[in-house]
Amino acid sequence: MVASASPDITARLQTLRAQFPALANKSYFNFGGQGPMPAAALTAIDQAHRTLQTAGPFSGRTNQWIQQSTLAMRKTLADLLHVPVAAMTLTEDVTVGCNIPLWGMDWQAGDRILLTDCEHPGIIAAVQEISRRFQVAVDFCPILATAQGGDPVAVIEAALQPHTRLLVVSHILWNTGQLLPLAEIVQRCHAHTPTPVWVLVDAAQSVGMMPLDLTATEVDFYAFTGHKWCCGPAGLGGLYVRPAAQETIAPTFIGWRSIQTDAQANPIGWQPNGQRYEVATSDYPLLAGLQAALTLHQAWGTPEVRFQRICELSAALWQQLQAHPSVRMVSATAPQSGLIAFEILDAAGQPSPQQHVQLVKDLEAETMLLRILLHPHCVRACVHYFTLEEEVNALSDRIKQWLNEQ
Ligand SMILES: Cc1ncc(COP(=O)(O)O)c(C=O)c1O
Repeated sequence: MVASASPDITARLQTLRAQFPALANKSYFNFGGQGPMPAAALTAIDQAHRTLQTAGPFSGRTNQWIQQSTLAMRKTLADLLHVPVAAMTLTEDVTVGCNIPLWGMDWQAGDRILLTDCEHPGIIAAVQEISRRFQVAVDFCPILATAQGGDPVAVIEAALQPHTRLLVVSHILWNTGQLLPLAEIVQRCHAHTPTPVWVLVDAAQSVGMMPLDLTATEVDFYAFTGHKWCCGPAGLGGLYVRPAAQETIAPTFIGWRSIQTDAQANPIGWQPNGQRYEVATSDYPLLAGLQAALTLHQAWGTPEVRFQRICELSAALWQQLQAHPSVRMVSATAPQSGLIAFEILDAAGQPSPQQHVQLVKDLEAETMLLRILLHPHCVRACVHYFTLEEEVNALSDRIKQWLNEQ
């Protein structure tokens, strides 16, 4: 059982949770897919639309609002990641953020890209298309197995080859929940000879979940979204490009937000910062929604406090599930993250995809939301800092009961 929060914290948690309409009618365990939005975010988006319609929609005042709101968002995200604001680009989602450095690198035939075997299909597909167009070779290194033991850094390092130019890796693996030692990985990649290997991080599962200091890690590219652990609206994310790498990564999709112009509006060069990768008109009211969601989290507690609670809850869930003889945890130890994945074993001790699908379906009918993953085929439950210990206990009890009924 999870240690109960103090009565004071419990009361604060209830007040906080009451602000999320999505939490009112279910037990939600899909934060890694999409976070629920607080009412303050919904209201802020609605108010932003009304402000823009009242003042414009196209006018000097609305243009000023857009300038201020985009700058404020870049600053908020830069503070969250501990990076200079000039290094931030606003994007739509993780995948767009990954595509920017992927397509912006000056690929030469014979170059190699290294991915782990735990990357998201959308990112793998982009890399494969780059491979096809530019005759770049793609390698995969087996870090999935390290969830059962072993050193992911050593596995990555062993897979680097003389012509490897880029490593694509997730900070927290979406399938095993494993938190990778990013600074160490970057250090090994940058020290690689004969040429340093740059590191592109898929940060879908880390931003909004854990404290971050990207400047200290020296990572080159870090792509994330506001709609998962940050609980912002879908359609707004960000990309950090290490300042020294910015000149080397050419924009691929280009528009008026990417460029500087002369007095006749002729393009005369890129924006001297992360705006060079932004393109054109966007759904600007989303900015107000993400700001409101991030403000709510900050008011609750520091990123360190929130992450510690996430890890406590996930460790409790991991321990309760792994005690059942028909369950095999995808990670041999409780992951240092809010992602807990498990397999259900059949009579022969083999994972049973059918049972995974059935369990998720049955629990959804009872308003407990989890999901299946395909690689490895398993069930994933996510906990956030505002998940209740009663929800964790009820989920593990219900899963055990379901298993005993089979
Ligand atoms: C590891 C990982 N990468 C990428 C994505 C895709 O995210 P987005 O839709 O924001 O591009 C996800 C979404 O689940 C993910 O978990």
